[in-house]
Amino acid sequence: MKIRINQMEEWAALVRHSETMRSVHMRDLFGKDPQRAGRFSQEACGLFLDYSKNRITEETFALLLELGAAVNLTEQIQAMFSGERINVTENRPVLHVALRNRSNRPVVVDGEDVMPAVNAVLERMRAFAAAVRDGSWRGFTGKRIRNVVNIGIGGSDLGPYMACEALKAYSSRELLVRFVSNVDATHFYEQTRDLDPAETLFIVASKTFTTQETMTNAQTARSWLLDALKDEAAVASHFAAVSTNAEAVQAFGINHENMFEFWDWVGGRYSMCSAIGLPIMISIGPDNFDSMLDGFHAMDLHFLESPLQNNMPVILALLGVWYNNFMGAETHAILPYDQYLHRFAAHLQQVDMESNGKSTGRDGGRTAWQTGTVIWGEPGTNGQHAFFQLMHQGTRLIPADFIGFSRSLNALGDHHDKLMANFFAQTEALAFGKLREEVEAEGTAAELVAHKTFAGNRPTNTIMAEELTPYVLGALMALYEHKIFVQGAVWNVYSFDQWGVQLGKVLAGRILNEFAAGEEKDIAVAHDPSTAQLINRYRQQRRK
Ligand code: F6P
Repeated sequence: MKIRINQMEEWAALVRHSETMRSVHMRDLFGKDPQRAGRFSQEACGLFLDYSKNRITEETFALLLELGAAVNLTEQIQAMFSGERINVTENRPVLHVALRNRSNRPVVVDGEDVMPAVNAVLERMRAFAAAVRDGSWRGFTGKRIRNVVNIGIGGSDLGPYMACEALKAYSSRELLVRFVSNVDATHFYEQTRDLDPAETLFIVASKTFTTQETMTNAQTARSWLLDALKDEAAVASHFAAVSTNAEAVQAFGINHENMFEFWDWVGGRYSMCSAIGLPIMISIGPDNFDSMLDGFHAMDLHFLESPLQNNMPVILALLGVWYNNFMGAETHAILPYDQYLHRFAAHLQQVDMESNGKSTGRDGGRTAWQTGTVIWGEPGTNGQHAFFQLMHQGTRLIPADFIGFSRSLNALGDHHDKLMANFFAQTEALAFGKLREEVEAEGTAAELVAHKTFAGNRPTNTIMAEELTPYVLGALMALYEHKIFVQGAVWNVYSFDQWGVQLGKVLAGRILNEFAAGEEKDIAVAHDPSTAQLINRYRQQRRK
């Protein structure tokens, strides 16, 4: 699409509006409008979003919606769901929504409905997961599988790892599910050192089945297994693969029956509902996995069918655009008040930053506006004792999403009330701060008054659900996936490629060869002086 969003009238209107909004305090917005909380709230798919603690007025929201309309957001959403090749630079449709299309409505790619294939893989996953869980899948020596180790990285690791942690309360505690991603051998070593190979099943998860880290860890896993079981035939009982690349899976020596397929129209970071979710299904069981898919699907439909002003992913996305492009924010914190969600921000980091971390627009020109936000976060209350100081009193504007639940999955004493009291207190403090007069009225020494004053006016969204269930996790994940889609649509970047990770991969391959073969003088020619110095130092020290 040939558009320069910063030359649109809708953009200019937001620039002008932001100038007036910079001096507006949320304290005044709430003071003037008691209905504000109700009006800036939205409920969908078991999630309640209160976005009233933002530096917005009705006018801001209307202008943001106009920007959404100006970039044909509704049409762009429909284009994704209908299977158009919106991943232009890779010439692929983007159809993670088909993976959880519980309605089974046909989704056509190249004249063929993909739903029968999606359902067939899900069926095979169900049978496999059930066999591992009930013990009918045996290891080579006849022992039951007690450990499942997923080997993958990026989208083939972060989503399933996040979900296995998030849904641990629903998992079979008989099975240990672990994740190895880093090519650092420490990761493989520490994740397997206490496991019995005869009881261990590896799932090698890689869309391409060429990723250096994953292939290295998979080879190491193979040797680790064969060192113990001493028979090549053992691989068939201890390895499964998830990939789009059947040939490479076969070349690795994994039986076709143990391979679970997915398709090039599923982006790695959007793949957790595909066979990449196999460790999740093994951990929580097929029924819980299905209800996670139901949650995803419910949010997909909400996104597809709701008008923009009531559309939760659209609302979150436009608020993000507001801060990123008009109010000078650079990062966005994700703060789940639930320990089970301790990998949630890490997963979102990839989904968001790999999707929208682009500076070339769809017209091939450089974007003259900020795009992808820096996403980060940790669970509360831990974050409060780490980085919240900067959020409350630092010089930067850091919008944040607070995610919390009315009921704990581990109701112990008054822990949950304390957790949630902190949850509510933080957004209140961030929004309203503490006035100089209030600090003075407490009898604070004059020289400390400024230090103890909180300016407030720090924006937050609050997302609440009754309980962290598989359904709710699915809805929450889909909410963020679609938020990212909307932001990519507004910023006019291609959200579904990731060319930026290629250069480092190519250079690493070249340097790896140089460790073994390169002459010092050749390295000096091949690299800049800094990199050459570092490589040569490494080569000398590792020889010692
Ligand atoms: O390097 C980035 C990336 O391509 C991600 O997009 C992807 O999720 C990850 O590597 C792993 O890729 P694969 O599943 O093909 O091993």
